[in-house]
Parts: sequence; C-alpha cells; structure tokens
Amino acid sequence: MTSSDLSKKALALLSTELKRYIQLHPHSVELSKKANQHFLYGVPMHWMNDWGTPSPLFVQHAQGAHFTCADAIDYIDFCLGDTGAMFGHSSAPVSKAIAAQANKGFTAMLPSTLAPDVGAALAEHFGLSYWQLATTATDANRFVLRWARAITGRNKLLVFDGCYHGTIDDTMIDLADGKTLNRASLLGQVYDLGLHTVAVAFNDIAAVERELAKGDVACVLTEPALTNCGMVLPQAGFIENVRALTKQYDCLLVLDETHTISTGRGGWAKANNVMPDFLVVGKPIAGGLPAAAYGFSEAIASRMKAAKDNAPAGHSGIGTTLSGNMMTLAAIHATLTKVATKDAYAHMLKLAEQLDQQLNRIIMAHHLPWNITRLGARLELQFCEKTPSNAQQARDAQNETLENAIHLYLLNRGILLTPFHNMMLVCPATSQNDTNHLVQTFDSCLQELESK
Ligand SMILES: Cc1ncc(COP(=O)(O)O)c(C=O)c1O
Repeated sequence: MTSSDLSKKALALLSTELKRYIQLHPHSVELSKKANQHFLYGVPMHWMNDWGTPSPLFVQHAQGAHFTCADAIDYIDFCLGDTGAMFGHSSAPVSKAIAAQANKGFTAMLPSTLAPDVGAALAEHFGLSYWQLATTATDANRFVLRWARAITGRNKLLVFDGCYHGTIDDTMIDLADGKTLNRASLLGQVYDLGLHTVAVAFNDIAAVERELAKGDVACVLTEPALTNCGMVLPQAGFIENVRALTKQYDCLLVLDETHTISTGRGGWAKANNVMPDFLVVGKPIAGGLPAAAYGFSEAIASRMKAAKDNAPAGHSGIGTTLSGNMMTLAAIHATLTKVATKDAYAHMLKLAEQLDQQLNRIIMAHHLPWNITRLGARLELQFCEKTPSNAQQARDAQNETLENAIHLYLLNRGILLTPFHNMMLVCPATSQNDTNHLVQTFDSCLQELESK
C-alpha cells in the first residue's frame, strides 16, 4: 500500500471514529460546553484541547494504570500524563504521604524536617551528590542554564534539532538550512533565540565538535534520546563522545532525563555510566504532583557556590516561591523510596519488552513499513521502517491523519496513547491483560484501516 493510499484510508477511518467519539461521550461534550464559558478553548490549559478528539475527554477518576472518563468508560492509560504519572495514578504510598503531610502544612519557604532524607533519596536514586529543587522540569532546565552560564562565563547553548525541554525560551528553536531560528509556532517571542542558541542534528558528532571548538558554548543541553519528535535513540557512543568533547572544550553537559528515566531506575546516564555535569528530572518524581530537581557533582557545586558568593547580594534569578515546598518533599520521598523501586522497574521493563515484540509482530503481519522504538518502559510507534537517527528523519515519518485515526480508534475502545506522537508508557500497575488488550485492539485497527 502506498503512503497516499494509507492516508486516504486513515481519513475514512478518522471520520467514522470522530462520530463514534461524540456518541460515546455525551457527558464530556456537555462538560466541554460548560467549561467553554470560562476557560479559553474550554480547558484549564490550551494544550488540553489538542488531543485530536472533537471535544476534550474529561477525567472522573484515575488509579494505577487506568482512569474513567465523565461517561464512566474505563481506559487503560498508556499516556500516563505524558510521563507525569509514569509510576501510576495515585499510587498508595504517595497518596498516604500527601495525606499525612496535608495536616502538617503545605508550604513555608523553609525546608521541612524531611529535607535531608529527600536529598539522600535523590543522590541514591540518580547517583549525583548535590541537588536543588524546582516546580517543573521547564524551570529546572531554565535554572541550570543560568548556573551553567554563570559558572563558565560563556553565553551560548548547544541543543539538538527536535529537542524539547519544556517552554524554556532558549530551546524553542528550529534548525532550517543550517540556521537556528525561532520555532515558527511560538507566540509572543520578540527575541532572536538564534543569537545565543545553536542547534545541530542529533547523532552528528562532527557538528557538535565544530560548534564547541568556537569556545563560546556554556553547555550542551540534551535528552540522552530525543523523545519529543517521535523517538530518536543515540547511536552507539554518541552521548559518550559528546561527554568527552564537552570536557575537551571546557563546557558543561546537561542531561535532561525527564522522559528518559524510563530507561531504568536512575535513568539513562546511570544505566550507561555517563556522568553529566547537571542532570535534570521532573514530571513523575513526586508521583505526579508538580516537582522537578537538578543534580550536580561536588566540583560543580563548588563552582556554583563561588558564582553565588562572588555576585552582588540580591536575587539570583533562580528559584520560585513554591519550589521545594513541604508537600512536594513528602511526595518526592515517597515516590523515590517506595514507588520507583527496583521491583517496579523490573515489571515495567519486562512488560514493555514483551509489548515491543507483540506490536512488531502485528506490524509485520500487516506488511507495514513501520517500527517500534523503545527506551526501557517507553515505546514509540513510528511510520518508518527503521528507527530514525535524527529529528528530520523522525519528522519525515510523521503522518498526522494516520496518527489521529489510530489514536481515536484506540481511545473509542478504552485505550489512551500520548498525543502529538505515538508514545506508550508502561507503569508499575500496567498488567499483561492491559498490554494484550492494546495489541489486539491495534490489530483490529489495522484490519479496519485496510478494509476502508
Ligand atoms: C525532556 C523534557 N524536559 C522537560 C520538559 C518540561 O516538563 P514540564 O512541562 O513539566 O515543565 C518536558 C516536557 O514534556 C520534556 O519532555
């Protein structure tokens, strides 16, 4: 089947599924009309309207790997809040810790008595000695960039085409004809981001060296694998070579592991024995409550202290009032010590590996030139034969109509994938029944697509 045949069939399937969604979800449609009166696009955050459904799906109750919508339909959640709920919805130890802390204060802009234990849990989990907290991974990346520029005295940042590190301004760029430009979709950005940010293609080590050799790059900021433009894995030795080059050219390596903690307990860097200068984590580290953290070595800690101590007194431009609040500390501690355990990861990795094989078998049985790319518990269906090696290849493989048709077909049968791409995440509460149901429904979806 040619890709244009496939797109025509996808359009036909999408049109059937859009009608089916409306029939199945009268209460969500009603809630959307009500919410429209006071929320822009009828949702608390405008992205919530970008799922490809004709109106947003409203959640009533979420627990473990499942949730029910306003129409009392049960879903298996493979999106898991785009990683925020990667360790399951409302897991009992986190709920208990939050309930206990709820009677002891939420925030005071002072450390709670649990603070030393939280620092120790972060150090044990991720293998870096020193930590600071932030409220979102966006903030953590933003703060790390300030530290990196402050301690190196350099102003440039190197990132990879297709990167996403949250809504941090410096990284909202596109690479076009070798130039780093403001991302076309950005609203209200009045600065030329290309002045201080340079982007190159992922897995292009020669381009990294070319830029670092100029001597003005404060840090390289990257995920160990790109996870926001489809999924692009590092070729063997790529991140290790970036690490060596950053050392050679006296700049810092920041690994954003917000998504790649799917690799295994402690993340990709720990599993692959690569020690970054800064490591950023966010999203699920407090079980889904807003929280993020950045870790660094003792050597970096000394340079940070020197920068702060030598600066005039006053605001550093780093930190926010609610960061590291008492409630968040309780939730991080419970998540890292009782939920994101070795056993939890063993279950997630085994089930994800099986799911990978099952989905690949279905793809082969339907003779489709697609692949599943996997990083531990995180899987990505991509409409290309081989795993892409950079963001451009990943973008070339995207087909929005096909993606929307598959997502909606699955959603109408009680399965949620991550929007904007085809990501499936396995959590500690995901069961073999859940993954089997996904595999069977994906198979039916492809049969129905072919029959159109
Ligand atoms: C790799 C990575 N870093 C940082 C972020 C930002 O996280 P948040 O939106 O929670 O600030 C994201 C969000 O998707 C991400 O994928």
